[in-house]
Amino acid sequence: MNLVSMKGVSKSFFGVYANQNVDLEINSGEIVALLGENGAGKTTLMNILYGIYEKDEGVIKVKGEEVCFKSPKEALKYNIGMVHQHFTLVPKLSVEQNITLGEKFKGYPFLKTKEREAEIAQLSKKFNFAINPKDLVQNLSIGQQQRVEILKLLYRKAQILIFDEPTAVLTPQESASFFEVLKKLANQDCAIILITHRISEVLNIADRVVVLRDGIKELDEKRAGLDENTLSKAMIGRELKKQQIKYFPTKEIGLSLKELSSTGKGKNISYFNFDVYKGEILGVAGVDGNGQKALAESIVGIRKYSHGKIYIDGEDVTNLSTSKRKQSKIAYISDDRHHDGLLLDYSLEENLLLKGDAHIKYYKNGILDKNNLSKDTSRKIEEYNIKTYSNKTPIRLLSGGNQQKLILAREISDETSVIVAFQPTRGLDVGYSDSVHQRLYEKQKEGASIVLISTDMEELRKMSNRILVIHNGMIMGILDNDHNLDITKVGLMMAGTGVKNE
Ligand SMILES: Nc1ncnc2c1ncn2[C@@H]1O[C@H](COP(=O)(O)OP(=O)(O)OP(=O)(O)O)[C@@H](O)[C@H]1O
Ligand SMILES: [Mg+2]
Repeated sequence: MNLVSMKGVSKSFFGVYANQNVDLEINSGEIVALLGENGAGKTTLMNILYGIYEKDEGVIKVKGEEVCFKSPKEALKYNIGMVHQHFTLVPKLSVEQNITLGEKFKGYPFLKTKEREAEIAQLSKKFNFAINPKDLVQNLSIGQQQRVEILKLLYRKAQILIFDEPTAVLTPQESASFFEVLKKLANQDCAIILITHRISEVLNIADRVVVLRDGIKELDEKRAGLDENTLSKAMIGRELKKQQIKYFPTKEIGLSLKELSSTGKGKNISYFNFDVYKGEILGVAGVDGNGQKALAESIVGIRKYSHGKIYIDGEDVTNLSTSKRKQSKIAYISDDRHHDGLLLDYSLEENLLLKGDAHIKYYKNGILDKNNLSKDTSRKIEEYNIKTYSNKTPIRLLSGGNQQKLILAREISDETSVIVAFQPTRGLDVGYSDSVHQRLYEKQKEGASIVLISTDMEELRKMSNRILVIHNGMIMGILDNDHNLDITKVGLMMAGTGVKNE
């Protein structure tokens, strides 16, 4: 059955088309993948369907009825739900409170929290989510938060479910079970729209594939018969080369952790012992929420230690502040760019000032050298191919992938000894992910010690010299990433079994 029919939908911002004359049909029981480069207009199109943006032109029908939603609330009445690229949960509230937020409860003032918690727990169980409705969202990992977002939609009886890059934060195992959930939903006559950058996923799960390019629909075909090259061409206009170059590290140590234990929110690391050589990429594999954040923050110096020492280029930096550390040339690409990477209401220029060494680069005698900042911003926009209206655009208005590019431009364009790259290609399109990888290789070649924390096993396999497996805040082992690497073993170690490091 046809659930959604969009015809001739256009939307522009400041005179530039984000969507142009797009037709899109969605049927029940169908999983439709929506693909396209960063800034191609995927999120915009779905925001229109979900009532966040109003279209400029075109006709949208849901179950045959012409609609023009003014808010997501109206869209939900028509059983349309969306999980955003950046989650919209309230950290200080519980899972149950987040899920039922804004609902009018029957029988008020008897809140019946217990009943709702039970209902949510049951829903969670049905999809093997292991989410406790009583937990505070702020204590959940990003992967877990996403499950809460999904539960929220299911709880509200959404039939047309839109997911904006849902697997960007999931491990291979989590993704696989997420896909099972999608299949289950499709079998129950839901329709799924899946925005993703991962072509392998698309080929694996979608019934139909739609590609947007510069706001225009470029391709709309059944999955059968499509392959990686065809999709890559439709998206970025060229095929992707599968070459990978691996550099070999020096024998000189760049970063060293000695029995380092952290203390703070969420899962902490305990007794971390490892060295990263200059010119080495050390991959960190693990299920999201097992201490990756603590590891990243400990190296960068945002998190406090309860034990141990940390050295950069032989210098003990254990007691140096973050900004001192950044001066000593540590770069941090955070996985949570809205939380500790960017200020959304500020411009590209202002966001460049957030780097630790900005006062050296952009200030003269304590006064901001606007000209210099402006020039450097333009240079970075060009070099990193950032799609923006101007240097002064608030970055809230940039597409998700373009926001990530700005962080990369800020953090790794200059001289660095240590780079902590935490999910650096999350949300980036295939073409750009590849250029981030090339960029990291360049830094490696220049002698940087790189810690690459990722839940994307393909990325770790492609990039790393060695792979450290983390579980429950502990190192399960460090393995050479060569053709002998046993992926099943890595999977077991990630789950907490397998060999422990001596
Ligand atoms: N509220 C807004 N104001 C101005 N411009 C916007 C707004 N929302 C989106 N845009 C612009 O519309 C274009 C399409 O953005 P959109 O977020 O839809 O891309 P996308 O395909 O989802 O990309 P990504 O893969 O990076 O998330 C971009 O150039 C973006 O800057
Ligand atoms: Mg998007």
